[in-house]
Amino acid sequence: MAGVQLQSKHVLGLDGMPREDIQLILDTAVSFREILDRPIKKVPPLQGKTIANMFFESSTRTRLSFELAERRLSADVLGFQSLGSSVSKGETLKDTARNIEAMKVDMVVIRHSASGAPHYLAQVIQGSVINAGDGSHEHPTQALLDMYTLREKFGKLEGLRICIVGDISHSRVALSNIYGLTAMGAKVSVCGPATMIPKEIERLNVQVFHRIDEVIEHVDALNVLRIQLERDAGRLFPSIREYHQYYGITKQRLDKATTPITIMHPGPINRDVELSADVADSEHSLILQQVLNGVAIRMAVLYLLSARN
Ligand code: CP
Repeated sequence: MAGVQLQSKHVLGLDGMPREDIQLILDTAVSFREILDRPIKKVPPLQGKTIANMFFESSTRTRLSFELAERRLSADVLGFQSLGSSVSKGETLKDTARNIEAMKVDMVVIRHSASGAPHYLAQVIQGSVINAGDGSHEHPTQALLDMYTLREKFGKLEGLRICIVGDISHSRVALSNIYGLTAMGAKVSVCGPATMIPKEIERLNVQVFHRIDEVIEHVDALNVLRIQLERDAGRLFPSIREYHQYYGITKQRLDKATTPITIMHPGPINRDVELSADVADSEHSLILQQVLNGVAIRMAVLYLLSARN
């Protein structure tokens, strides 16, 4: 296991996270990924530690992945979901978090629909805070598991050509991937309709494309984003059928590439909207590998923060 420390007490985002810290998390996750292949997958480093998972927004992958990572490291786990909690009686985020912390919790994992909620929490509680996705801001552990999966597949991140496809404007996955991948020396581009690409995104060292067929000739991997219909994404293009026609990743499109293109997606997938079902299930798709690697990445983050404290 690597012997150096993370510079920050929290993992709130990849914006400004030093390259060495990203490298440390990815390298530490390799050991934990190996543990996940063992018959007995439990190890003791977080024995005696208590971690609260505060989920104020829906989640399948991230919530279960954090919970599994915590249990694999032998931590005690407190699950909190806003539905059914005293949040419905008007309790504030600060009061909810401080009450949970009063029960001697060491770390808090938080997902919230408000951008900046984890950063606020980090100011009002003593323990470490991990951002499990805040609004349309950042989703750092998703980007770390994406980077881990790319490094596992290609053996490096430096110089790798990655295009993030879809609604970049509203995507916390896109922003964290842009910060993380550019810090690690990858060549990052984005592709989508103009309504879904933030103005001046080039300032983050990314190239902008609006035609997916043009992108396919120039990339090693596509990270395809979910069309967030629950966040009114439908207003940003004429119809789902039209989005699929112009931006959907299909086998016919990928067959035009001279070399096979790796497909990633953070999930959940809208099959036959942002990518066709046969592409999602093809041998070029790393989607389930991303989910598996997510447990190892979260084990690494929890382990390193706990070691630091
Ligand atoms: N990738 C991701 O964040 O999925 P969930 O919303 O299911 O956690």
